[in-house]
Amino acid sequence: MNKKTWLVTGGAGFIGGNFVLRQMARGEVMVINLDALTYAGNLATLSGIEDHPDHYFVLGSLNDQPLLGYLLETWQPDAIVNFAAESHVDRSIDSAEDFVQTNLVGTFHLLEAARHYWNGLSVEKRAAFRFLHVSTDEVYGSLGETGLFTETTPYQPNSPYSATKAGSDHLVRAWHHTYGLPVLTTNCSNNYGPYQYPEKLIPLMIQNALEGKALPVYGQGANIRDWLYVEDHCRAIECVLENGQPGEVYNIGGHNEKTNLEVVHTLCALLDELAPDSAQGPHRQLIQFVTDRPGHDQRYAIDAGKIQRELGWVPEETFETGLRKTVQWYLDNGEWVQSVINDCHHQWIKTQYDER
Ligand code: NAD
Ligand code: TYD
Repeated sequence: MNKKTWLVTGGAGFIGGNFVLRQMARGEVMVINLDALTYAGNLATLSGIEDHPDHYFVLGSLNDQPLLGYLLETWQPDAIVNFAAESHVDRSIDSAEDFVQTNLVGTFHLLEAARHYWNGLSVEKRAAFRFLHVSTDEVYGSLGETGLFTETTPYQPNSPYSATKAGSDHLVRAWHHTYGLPVLTTNCSNNYGPYQYPEKLIPLMIQNALEGKALPVYGQGANIRDWLYVEDHCRAIECVLENGQPGEVYNIGGHNEKTNLEVVHTLCALLDELAPDSAQGPHRQLIQFVTDRPGHDQRYAIDAGKIQRELGWVPEETFETGLRKTVQWYLDNGEWVQSVINDCHHQWIKTQYDER
């Protein structure tokens, strides 16, 4: 039997990269990996599958309509999984232009290309086709001290990033309602794990700690995020792709609510233990409280009951096991970190620090 083919966008980024590597290890699908290789996309992540016969990398953008049409007609995929995005809140606060162009306009172009392709498929292939849109819990806004985001929580995005993701979710919903495109949307909490660009909280803190730089904690470090190990997210996406109901939304989360300060303290303790020879220890002394992010959402927390009940997905990693693996991975993969930060884009991170 022929393998299924999935068009994955953003598969050189953090979650998409983990997803593509996982598919190659599973050996059940062929992946066409479309990625624009922005600062966040790195071929170093995919170096282990460079010559894999089931992986075909295409350098290109969601906004290249002729390319999208060409790829769909040529490869006749059974599904599209849309990871591609501008994903960092702080960058969206500095300048939202790329976020609108990729997250909103790019998703529109991908939906249109998918719709034209899907309309031309045989009845059987049309019925089996899926468009899975990977989104975030940040579209729901910020929680108070209690309560959890469910699939019916009203959208209240607060940052330019989450506003563009919310807009893209609405487009996806409309393409199902109006045109019947068999879409699935997943809204996931904060991910962590291997291959995450060191601008997000966890890899940034690990990298800075190892270099003896300040660990910049925004405000008092009291904001809460609900952390999920990236491999668990990838498994959840597989579950939704294979068994989710078209038109439905699935929240994904790890039941791991932590304040940022708790996360940084745990990271410091892990680094003290796993890198005992580090000249920087004890790493806690590097923590610095800095000016808060404007519009900083206080708390995110996911009710993942629907995906558990309907599709049987539960996370496999606890925060403790996942974070330990992650710190060890960064300790073992300094070369990957250097390869992704040794370009001009890293300058952006440095500038941010200097300004705070
Ligand atoms: P990332 O920033 O690490 O990777 C994004 C990838 O998209 C990069 O490889 C980049 O080159 C590519 N890309 C950007 N613009 C593109 C364009 N116009 N055309 C094609 N490719 C383009 O992001 P991530 O953290 O892996 O997030 C992946 C998806 O998951 C995003 O849609 C994000 O909103 C969502 N998400 C992320 C998290 C998280 O904690 N990181 C949580 C929930 C949902
Ligand atoms: P981040 O990893 O940027 O993810 P998001 O903003 O999408 O949740 O940030 C996670 C949390 O950590 C968030 O509350 C902001 C905070 N944070 C810091 O305190 N210091 C930092 O240097 C960064 C990047 C984030």
